[in-house]
Amino acid sequence: MKIGVPSEVKTDEYRVGMTPAGVRELVDAGHEVVVQQGAGIGSGIADADYAAQGATVLPDADAVFGAAEMIVKVKEPQPDEVARLESRHLLFTYLHLAPARELTHGLMNSGATCVAYETVTDRNGRLPLLAPMSEVAGKIATQAGAFMLERPLGGRGILLGGVPGVAAANVMVIGGGVVGLRAALIAIGMEATVFVYDRNIDRLRELDLIFGGRADTCFASTLAIEERLPEVDLVIGAVLVAGAKAPHVVSREQLRIMKPGAVLVDVAIDQGGCFETSRPTTHTDPTYEVDGITHYCVANMPGAVPVTSTYALTNATMPYVLQLANEGVQGASAANPGLKEGVNVVAGQVTNAPVAEAVGVPYVPVDEALGQLAAA
Ligand SMILES: NC(=O)c1ccc[n+]([C@@H]2O[C@H](COP(=O)([O-])OP(=O)(O)OC[C@H]3O[C@@H](n4cnc5c(N)ncnc54)[C@H](O)[C@@H]3O)[C@@H](O)[C@H]2O)c1
Repeated sequence: MKIGVPSEVKTDEYRVGMTPAGVRELVDAGHEVVVQQGAGIGSGIADADYAAQGATVLPDADAVFGAAEMIVKVKEPQPDEVARLESRHLLFTYLHLAPARELTHGLMNSGATCVAYETVTDRNGRLPLLAPMSEVAGKIATQAGAFMLERPLGGRGILLGGVPGVAAANVMVIGGGVVGLRAALIAIGMEATVFVYDRNIDRLRELDLIFGGRADTCFASTLAIEERLPEVDLVIGAVLVAGAKAPHVVSREQLRIMKPGAVLVDVAIDQGGCFETSRPTTHTDPTYEVDGITHYCVANMPGAVPVTSTYALTNATMPYVLQLANEGVQGASAANPGLKEGVNVVAGQVTNAPVAEAVGVPYVPVDEALGQLAAA
C-alpha cells in the first residue's frame, strides 16, 4: 500500500503522524511511504531522517494526498484537507466527530473511509490511541492551570503547593480516567490539595489505591460537585463518554459560586467541552474569562510538546497502521475487533452510533458498510 504523511496544518500543531521508525516498519513490510517536505520539522525530525528509512519526500500536501491510498495524520482534517480526500482514500487520524457536524458531513461527502484513533479499543475496552495523548494532556492541564492562577495572567494569585504556614490551593479534577489521573498526580506532586471526582465506583476504588491517601476520591454527583466549587482554585475537566459529546459537569450558573480568579481547564474540549461556558481555544490565545473565571480550553494540548507527543502517539498507532497497510480496512477490521471500533465513516455512511446520534445522521453498522464497500 502507499501511505502518505502530510504536514499538520491546524493552528499551533507541531506533531506528525509518523516517525522514521514507522517508515522503516512499513518499508520492511513491502509498503511505500510518502512524506510531505518539512512534515517532521516541528517534532525535530528532518526530511533526511525519513528518506534514510526509505520514504519519498514530496513537496506539498497535494502531492501526498495524490500519491497515497492511506493518509496517516494527527489532528482531524482541516477544510483544505477534506477537499483533497477521495473515495479511494483510507484516513487514519484523530477525528472527534461527535461535536463536529460540518466535518462529519465533509468526510461523508468525500466518500473516504475514515478510522478515528479515539474510538479504537483494546481487549480491555480501553482506548489505546487516546491514552498516550491523554497522559500528556493530563500533565499539561495541571501545569497550565498552575500558571493561569498567577495574578499577572488574571488568576487568583495563589501558589498551587502553598508554603509553610500558608495553605495549598484546592484542585478539583472531574473525570478520573487517563487524563484525570495524570492531572491529579502532577497536582499531588506540586503539593496541592486534590479532589478527584468520577461516576464509576470501580475507577474510584482504583484511584484510591493509586493515591494512597494523597488525594480524596469523590462520587461525581451534581450536588457533590456544586458543594465543592466554592472552595476550589483550579478545576480540571476530564470526563469522557466514549465517542459522545461531553456531558456538562459545571454550568454557567455555578460559576457565580466560585472564587473570582479561579481557573477552569477543560481538557474534554475536543469532545465539545464539559463546562457549559467552554469554547475551543488555541495555544496562541489559550484563555478567556467568563464571570470572573479564567477558562483554558486548548483543543490540542499535546501539540505544545511535540517532541514528547509525536513519539508517544506513534508508538501506539504504529501496530494499527501496519495492520491496515497489510490487510486493508476490511481485513484488518475482521481480524481486530478493537480496530473495527475505530471505523467512523465508510463511503458516505456513519458507522459509529454515538457520532451518528450526535450529528443527526443515520447510523449504519460497520460490517454492513464495509460489506457494501467490498462489493462495490
Ligand atoms: N484537549 C486535549 O488536547 C486533549 C488531549 C487528550 C485527551 N483529551 C480528552 O480528554 C477527555 C478525557 O480523556 P481520558 O483519556 O481521560 O478518558 P477516560 O475514558 O480514560 O476517562 C474519562 C473518565 O470520565 C469519567 N466520567 C464520565 N462521565 C462522567 C461524569 N458525568 N462525571 C464524572 N466523571 C465522568 C469516566 O468514568 C472515566 O473515568 C476526552 O474527552 C479526551 O478526548 C483532550
